[in-house]
Amino acid sequence: MNIIAICGSPRRGNTEFILKRILTKAGELGVKTGLVLLREKRIEFCDGCLSCDASGKCNIRDDMQIIYPKIEEADLIILGSPNYFSNVSGMMKNFIDRMHPFYKDAKLKDKKIVGVVVGASNKIETIEKSINCIKVASDLLTMSFVGDLYLIARDFQDIENNPENIKKIDEFAKNLINL
Ligand SMILES: Cc1cc2nc3c(=O)[nH]c(=O)nc-3n(C[C@H](O)[C@H](O)[C@H](O)COP(=O)(O)O)c2cc1C
Repeated sequence: MNIIAICGSPRRGNTEFILKRILTKAGELGVKTGLVLLREKRIEFCDGCLSCDASGKCNIRDDMQIIYPKIEEADLIILGSPNYFSNVSGMMKNFIDRMHPFYKDAKLKDKKIVGVVVGASNKIETIEKSINCIKVASDLLTMSFVGDLYLIARDFQDIENNPENIKKIDEFAKNLINL
């Protein structure tokens, strides 16, 4: 099994901590893992040319060209994002838009995907909307959405300072292996 996690937070905060913890746990169970920190990458906006519908490739020469093959090689993709205005971060939404080359020929068909979101609020609307953004994208890409983890946190180390969260993350990681 090969898991790749994509982190859509602009800071080394909660989302990044959760993803690293999940990958470490999965690694201990013998899974091959990889992490992409979007904050370290140069990823342009989709320019809407739609030429990928015919070519299956993106014309934009940036760091997505390194990430595309990693996604194709993965069995399970984790999209991790902070909740920004009841949605994923702009960084993550831009990444999702750039997945369009996989859309036309359903190239990611049946690949597994999970969503991990962190937000300050425990309001159900804000939780559902952000997770739903990932779910809708995965449906359109014909991927199989197999789970989500939503944790409440506001400041940098809120997640790692709460043992309850650590338990939930470890449990989530363990279950991923059996999906
Ligand atoms: C621009 C912005 C918008 C936000 N909007 C929401 C929101 O709508 N709902 C929510 O629960 N938290 C919201 N938050 C709080 C973040 O989700 C929270 O700080 C989270 O822990 C950030 O994750 P990170 O540490 O991985 O960056 C917002 C934060 C920022 C900076």
